[in-house]
Amino acid sequence: MRINKVKTQTLKETLFRRLALGTAAIGIVAAATLAHAHGDVTPQAVDTSSLTQLGADWRIANPYRDNADAIRIGDSAFNQNCARCHGLGAVSGGIAPDLRYLERGDEMDEFFIGKVRNGVTRNGAVYMPPFEGMLTQEAMWAIRAWLETVHEEQ
Ligand code: HEC
Repeated sequence: MRINKVKTQTLKETLFRRLALGTAAIGIVAAATLAHAHGDVTPQAVDTSSLTQLGADWRIANPYRDNADAIRIGDSAFNQNCARCHGLGAVSGGIAPDLRYLERGDEMDEFFIGKVRNGVTRNGAVYMPPFEGMLTQEAMWAIRAWLETVHEEQ
């Protein structure tokens, strides 16, 4: 009986944490939307004119990997557009995934660009807004180039 009680407790705690996490994420999106209405968290324009322009076709692998200029641009673009959820310097506070642990390399590039273009919506709740139309392809790949420089093994 004692063991059962402990198990139930743990399950309840886990459920509660999940709920709290979900609610926090939704709260953040709501706060972001409100702030947006007041004009202070508008997606920031990112100047990528110094990079090779990529045209209209979306790449599935990062054309800027290890490109110093892209890394510099991506650092600032991340802090302006992603850090409010994923943390300054990509060090997550726990609400959104810690992007330092995203694998390096082409395979994860495709996953990355898909998430950033489309965002993440679950059961009608926006966990992460889509960035297509907000950021250029060049800006997204610059962010990915920078992220790989702060990568950590799990
Ligand atoms: C409003 C908050 C918010 C903003 C802003 C945001 N994200 Fe996210 N992002 C999330 C959340 C929450 C998830 C996890 C969604 C889920 O549960 O699958 C996520 C998931 C991701 C993932 C998938 C990670 C994984 O391991 O599954 C990537 C990649 C990502 N975000 C990149 C970015 C980038 C790059 C930016 C900036 C251009 C950005 N995000 C802006 C909240 C945000």
